[in-house]
Amino acid sequence: MRINKYIATSGIASRRKAEEFVTLGKVKVNGRMVKDLAYNVKKTDIVTVDGKKIDVLSEHVYLMLHKPKGYICSNSDEKGRKTVLELVKGRYEKMRLFTVGRLDYDTEGLIILTTDGDMANKITHPSFEMPKKYIAKIEGEITSDEIKKISDGIILDGVVTKPCKVRLLNFEDNISRLQVVITEGRNRQVRRMFENINREVIFLKRTEIGNIRLGGLTRGTFRELNKKELLFLKRL
Ligand code: URA
Repeated sequence: MRINKYIATSGIASRRKAEEFVTLGKVKVNGRMVKDLAYNVKKTDIVTVDGKKIDVLSEHVYLMLHKPKGYICSNSDEKGRKTVLELVKGRYEKMRLFTVGRLDYDTEGLIILTTDGDMANKITHPSFEMPKKYIAKIEGEITSDEIKKISDGIILDGVVTKPCKVRLLNFEDNISRLQVVITEGRNRQVRRMFENINREVIFLKRTEIGNIRLGGLTRGTFRELNKKELLFLKRL
């Protein structure tokens, strides 16, 4: 197996990042620095990155997690806020997990975590236009004009958002509950689209990424993706 693939399979980095490790001279095979990306790792080889031995996983791990509000999607936070990785327990705790995309601090819902950095990069690449479904609540009754504005596209940072699907689910106790499906993943996109029409999102939850649904998973808990969900990701 090619050296970068071998390192990526261990779960510590994506293939691209692994290539960087090799070219930067951080990788040694049997104690010798290897900078040749064409190097094929043999079964008996001992590979280290920054002096740490690489153990290849037989298979990558793919998890879904119900992120609660008040957690960030990052490995660490300079402000000391809690991270979604703190919710991962058991044998998964020691793994180098990547979040597939991000949810902001105040948003809850579906997050996919994986040791497969290549897959994480692939799914979040803008060219994929992966549909992501959200439930958003705003105060007051949204008008069909406002829904059309957001669906057609809103200028954020000088660039128009791609057309998206917005549907009013119900209006109760002066709250409009909406379903929003976007195919981009710009920073705080749903909140900012509504801010742009002077509406504040008071609740935001992601319920689906492509064919993968959060379903009844309890807030703050996680589970492994099942075969059907994995197949969906692998066929991308
Ligand atoms: N849109 C947002 O505003 N926040 C998220 O976390 C995801 C999409």
